[in-house]
Amino acid sequence: MKAARLHPGAGPSVNLDDVSSPHGPMLPTTVQIEVHASSVNPHDCGMIRQLAEGVYEKPSRLVPIRLGHDLSGIVTAVGSAVSNVAVGDEVYSTTAKMGAWAEEFRVHHLQVARRPRTLSHAESAALAMAGSTARHVMRVGKVSATTSMLVIGASGGVGHLAVQIASKVLGARVTAVTSGRNADYVRGLGVAEVVDYTTHNIRDLPEQFDVILDAVGGESPESCAKILKPGGYLIGLVGHSEEVKRTIASTSRDLGWRLRGLEAPFHFRTFLNLPRGSYLRELASWVDAGLVEVEVEKTYDLAEIQDAIDHVERGRTRGKVAVSVR
Ligand SMILES: NC(=O)c1ccc[n+]([C@@H]2O[C@H](COP(=O)([O-])OP(=O)(O)OC[C@H]3O[C@@H](n4cnc5c(N)ncnc54)[C@H](OP(=O)(O)O)[C@@H]3O)[C@@H](O)[C@H]2O)c1
Repeated sequence: MKAARLHPGAGPSVNLDDVSSPHGPMLPTTVQIEVHASSVNPHDCGMIRQLAEGVYEKPSRLVPIRLGHDLSGIVTAVGSAVSNVAVGDEVYSTTAKMGAWAEEFRVHHLQVARRPRTLSHAESAALAMAGSTARHVMRVGKVSATTSMLVIGASGGVGHLAVQIASKVLGARVTAVTSGRNADYVRGLGVAEVVDYTTHNIRDLPEQFDVILDAVGGESPESCAKILKPGGYLIGLVGHSEEVKRTIASTSRDLGWRLRGLEAPFHFRTFLNLPRGSYLRELASWVDAGLVEVEVEKTYDLAEIQDAIDHVERGRTRGKVAVSVR
């Protein structure tokens, strides 16, 4: 079968290699999937860069390294303890284990769910990691119908799903930060206000928010704090600099964070999303109920995986980039 792999010493370019299919006995908790589609996340691009630069220790068994975290496909075998899906089911998954850019893949059964009936395989794969992250943001920020929320990066993979879940599923009042070229698109996702970051500075917004999701990483906690209500949540998806982390850590108090010179304490959260089948099931139900739409800007064939990676690396994707495997 074909699988996309990064070869040590070959720089950040990914090869499509002939490799052996998953073999050997199935673990009791494993699901084997014939992959029909996958997607590219900025996290994949970051890992490729860091692996190529030798940032991570590489156990020799992982070299060359298989890549990709999202998939949609058909179950071809299940372990003896698996009861949530069966052979022949159409499923989707996001997994911490890399290797989904391949024709076959095995994942843990708790990271698999039946895919949305109303989506294609490419759209389902595009939903998996970005949607799970957006769903986790709602839990971390305790988003509800009484929440006012600012989403920075509202046209991206996570952002376009987060604004729809917050506004259409949970009933929150959402202000979306995007560029002018994506303003009309984002307005159509159910948001109350759109702010063009190319002409406005979010620090000057007159409103204060209960929750700010920063899916871009360009804003400092200090400037976000000016537009965050006391006790509000600042959720950052992109790692903040060591200096910012030290500032925050040195001023922490109890469960919240107090920044020097600021009156109001607020909660600062950054996380690495862990794949959960329960989130995938919720996302599928919201999509099939017509509450959440998945935007796929472009779908590449697996043979064009490097072009798909380069596309995401440019940082201008509206929605997601998907990969068609069969
Ligand atoms: N911690 C976790 O568990 C986790 C999980 C998933 C993702 N992430 C991280 O979260 C980040 C976002 O992921 P993603 O998939 O949503 O990224 P993405 O789809 O690549 O984001 C691209 C979008 O960002 C917009 N954008 C760029 N600069 C902006 C700015 N200054 N203000 C507002 N919007 C801006 C672009 O719109 P324009 O072209 O209009 O500017 C584009 O639509 C990535 O760094 C990713 O690694 C973290």
